[in-house]
Amino acid sequence: MVRACDRISLNIHPGEYCAIMGESGSGKTTLMNIIGCLDQPTNGRYWLDGVDVSRLGKNQLARIRNQKIGFVFQRYELLNNLSALENVMLPMMYMGIDRKQRRRLAAAALRRMGLGQRLDKRPTQLSGGQQQRVAIARAIVNRPLLLLADEPTGALDTHSAEAVMAIFSELHKSGITIIMVTHSHDVAGHSKRIIQVSDGRILGDSTSTIGR
Ligand SMILES: Nc1ncnc2c1ncn2[C@@H]1O[C@H](COP(=O)(O)OP(=O)(O)O)[C@@H](O)[C@H]1O
Ligand SMILES: [Mg+2]
Repeated sequence: MVRACDRISLNIHPGEYCAIMGESGSGKTTLMNIIGCLDQPTNGRYWLDGVDVSRLGKNQLARIRNQKIGFVFQRYELLNNLSALENVMLPMMYMGIDRKQRRRLAAAALRRMGLGQRLDKRPTQLSGGQQQRVAIARAIVNRPLLLLADEPTGALDTHSAEAVMAIFSELHKSGITIIMVTHSHDVAGHSKRIIQVSDGRILGDSTSTIGR
């Protein structure tokens, strides 16, 4: 049996902007899946926004994910048969918001990402950087507390990666908590705290070493 995460003790406060770094296979995605309520720890506890979510059932976890967490992935994971606008409208399906309001909020989120002229484009008609910005609009449209991004710039050229980092900095300033996994020291440098993972354990944490 592999212990993908082992004896991890981590406290992340509201409004923090953290990067998780570590070699391939070190447990970053497993840790992000637990933080994102996509997976649960075999042992130990995970508290999110004052709630112990480590033993909740599937439906309760799904509701918490929908309300509190936005996800951004390396490969965007947009639905190719939907327009940019329709992709961003999707997370609001289960929020009891009427269609007109969903359209309005989705268009506003896309405009915030600089995509106001691309609302009706399909993902295949957009560049990688534009697709990732649609994915970010989708992740934030429900106003989550927490934005999780697993290698958000991993598939992007330098210029598009910088644009994504500028958006993350703006989101951080607006108060959202951000946790991102990255291999890139340049990308991690945009965050305020770097958590180094190795063999499922935390090897270093840049804020906890301050003042030592
Ligand atoms: N579903 C799974 N079943 C078995 N082993 C897994 C599973 N997911 C991850 N692992 C193992 O756990 C370790 C950590 O994986 P992962 O969290 O994906 O690391 P990273 O994202 O840092 O590359 C690796 O040894 C990986 O092979
Ligand atoms: Mg991974």
